[in-house]
Amino acid sequence: MQNNIILEIKNLSKQFPGVKALDDVSIDIRTAEVHALLGENGAGKSTLIKILTGAYQKDEGEIIFNGEQVQITSPNDAINYGIGAVYQELTLIPQLSIMENMFLGNEPLLNANPPIINWDKMKKSSAEILKMLGLNINPLTKTGALGVGMQQMVEIAKALVRTPKILIMDEPTSSLSAAETERLFDVVESLKKKGITIIYISHKLEEIMLLADRVTVLRDGKKVGTENIADINEDKLIQMMVGRSLNDKYPKYQVEIKEEALRIENFSGNKFKDVSFDVHHGEILGVYGLVGAGRTEVARAIFGADPKQKGEIFIDGKPVNIKSPKDAIANGLAFLPEDRKNQGLILKNTVEFNINLSSLSINSKKWINLCKLKEKALDMVNQLKIQPPYINHICLNLSGGNQQKVVIAKWVMTDANIFIFDEPTRGIDVGSKVEVYNVMNSLVKKGAAVIMISSEMEEILGMSDRIVVMHEGKVTAILNRRDATSEKICAAAIGRA
Ligand SMILES: Nc1ncnc2c1ncn2[C@@H]1O[C@H](COP(=O)(O)OP(=O)(O)OP(=O)(O)O)[C@@H](O)[C@H]1O
Ligand SMILES: [Mg+2]
Repeated sequence: MQNNIILEIKNLSKQFPGVKALDDVSIDIRTAEVHALLGENGAGKSTLIKILTGAYQKDEGEIIFNGEQVQITSPNDAINYGIGAVYQELTLIPQLSIMENMFLGNEPLLNANPPIINWDKMKKSSAEILKMLGLNINPLTKTGALGVGMQQMVEIAKALVRTPKILIMDEPTSSLSAAETERLFDVVESLKKKGITIIYISHKLEEIMLLADRVTVLRDGKKVGTENIADINEDKLIQMMVGRSLNDKYPKYQVEIKEEALRIENFSGNKFKDVSFDVHHGEILGVYGLVGAGRTEVARAIFGADPKQKGEIFIDGKPVNIKSPKDAIANGLAFLPEDRKNQGLILKNTVEFNINLSSLSINSKKWINLCKLKEKALDMVNQLKIQPPYINHICLNLSGGNQQKVVIAKWVMTDANIFIFDEPTRGIDVGSKVEVYNVMNSLVKKGAAVIMISSEMEEILGMSDRIVVMHEGKVTAILNRRDATSEKICAAAIGRA
């Protein structure tokens, strides 16, 4: 059974204007294995998946499913062959219930003509699938009322309605908490036991080592190799991905920490209470907590994006009144939001347009200096190694990680002095993370203060000078770099400090 090949991808190629997204890629996928796909941002992972699910058409190559050559020319073809997918971006309709979302476009009918929906059957089947996923939730709940993690689970439930033989997951854990991630892993194991094959994309190497049976690495649209997880380690995977080993994953500079830049006192809002901390010029202040701890809410309140109930902000020791993001920017703040697609980018515009968006008034006094904007944008594209390196590329066509880099570039270009980065390296590959850290390093070297919200323990420990830990809307610990350990941080994050 182990060596049964369910899907054979043969010599697949796909060209976009100026980019060969897939170049002669061949992969065998075995029945009931978890096959991980790994590669740098823009390596071609999502493109491969989109070809398998009928969203894109291949230029060349063959797809052989259960021994037969198939043509996947539409999403319906993929569904009919039993290829299901859970995308990174959530696609649920918030006004509909869980079961309506799960069965959307595929409703069980009592009568075909005129169509009458069999609500009882829908309710019963959805309850069964939810139970199989270990979710104790009423299928009539509206999905808009669910947290992101639960919505992600409903996406999986939705894919399971069509009883797929192959389930593809594109970065499924990027917005899940640790507990939700564990639940997802259990689900993956149980699907595997049922004979379902999983193709799993993630930038988190430890996840791949834990969950996958085999891994295929892509680089610049080409296959580098396929390995058994048992025969490989993280370093070797990095080597395959980026073509060299990373000697320092967290290149922290020693920068002199100067006077206080920002302080908040007794900040309270809907989801947080009496939060106080400060950050100094030259300092990276890590803010750790489990998903839902209230970190983003505090950041948004500082930035004036959400109202607060009470609390004071001091910048360079002086009280300031920030009621809107405009006030915040005027006070030298910059905020990189968690949700890049909705809050960070104008997707239909170019890289150059987006990068310059927040700093137009700085780089152009009376007239907009187009040459200077071009130069600045190119500079950021090179510094962050945005791929492909064209400033006139439309952001919508960039890979997920490269979109994230454009948002970072946009804020770094401003002359802000205090930067709040909310999950800055989400969806960014291990190699490119180093570039993002180096951007932070150069900001603090210039005297800026950086608040880095992150759910990744290694990143928090590797890059922060001090660490604020939050639990259920409250600060439960503030630790110095030298005293911080993952045990202490974890204990504070679950409220047991
Ligand atoms: N619709 C499109 N039009 C033009 N270029 C595209 C399009 N979709 C993808 N590309 C390009 O194809 C390449 C591969 O992109 P893809 O999204 O497959 O990368 P990825 O491996 O999923 O990266 P990430 O880890 O950042 O999600 C990138 O250079 C990207 O810019
Ligand atoms: Mg992708």
